Amino acid sequence: MPSPPWIPVNDFALATGWLDASQSNERARWYCEQLEEGQILFFQTFPYDFPEHDRQFILSQRWAEARLHKNVSYRPTQDVLRGFSGDEPSLSEMRRVMRSYSAQVIQFLARFLLPYAGRWSLDFASFRPLEEEGRQLPLHKRNDLLHVDAFPSRPTRGSRILRVFTNLHPTKARVWLTTDRFGELAKRFAFEAGLPQLAGGGSFLRRKLLRLGRAFGFPGGDRSPYDRFMLRFHDYLKENSAFQADCPKYKLEFPPLATWLVFSDGVPHAVVSGQFALEQTVLVHPSALVAPQHSPIRVLESLCGCPLSG
Ligand code: SIN
Ligand code: FE
Repeated sequence: MPSPPWIPVNDFALATGWLDASQSNERARWYCEQLEEGQILFFQTFPYDFPEHDRQFILSQRWAEARLHKNVSYRPTQDVLRGFSGDEPSLSEMRRVMRSYSAQVIQFLARFLLPYAGRWSLDFASFRPLEEEGRQLPLHKRNDLLHVDAFPSRPTRGSRILRVFTNLHPTKARVWLTTDRFGELAKRFAFEAGLPQLAGGGSFLRRKLLRLGRAFGFPGGDRSPYDRFMLRFHDYLKENSAFQADCPKYKLEFPPLATWLVFSDGVPHAVVSGQFALEQTVLVHPSALVAPQHSPIRVLESLCGCPLSG
């Protein structure tokens, strides 16, 4: 029997922190385990505070002008907003809305996924204002093709990419596809995608250049073999038209105002349609994982029989 596309979470006592510590610890651990195994956790309505006023503000902006940028991004550690064009008052209001959204999501995550609390690096938040259906983007930037996430500018060295999405659209679902989880795809494609070469660290010259890059702080200089493979694998899957056409596909329709949590480095995904999504990413440290054997770095290390973090 096919497993359900997501696990609905009705545990508002847990999400909102009303449980006593021992109870919440055990249940939180179970949710972490489900996520790490490749499940998507689904909330019918906001599990964190998001004022109606903020939603109205976001939806009332003139997003048609934002076509040059893929998304609006917010960096919580620096309080920096990028990709938004508007007058000064709108800019500062948008920054306030994203700052508050990001803080609320982080607070919710720290309660709901207790084993991870504080054992993560805060990554970016984003707002995705454009209709996804029919977007014209270069192949590697297309999100309508199945892929696992890897960020060129933010190597994780084995930390896992946890993302919280919310569909802010008042009436339209956000539609995703998924397929087999990372373990299956890695077994089928990792060698063809270049795992042996990347695991070996490449040529002597390449290793030396990378060390130099690291020393001088060049972007990408601190990429581990794992990060290099994940970037390659992201592109490989998007380039593989036979895989895109023939793999089994499961359709997920996230209704208006739903929130979902996913380890997007382990759950291949594609967005087919939808508009107005909010998203916050955290990079969960390997030592916080409750089922590390499912993490992509462990799966790949056991496939190639060598360490990938160094
Ligand atoms: C992604 O592929 O990471 C984006 C998914 C989305 O925007 O819904
Ligand atoms: Fe993605």
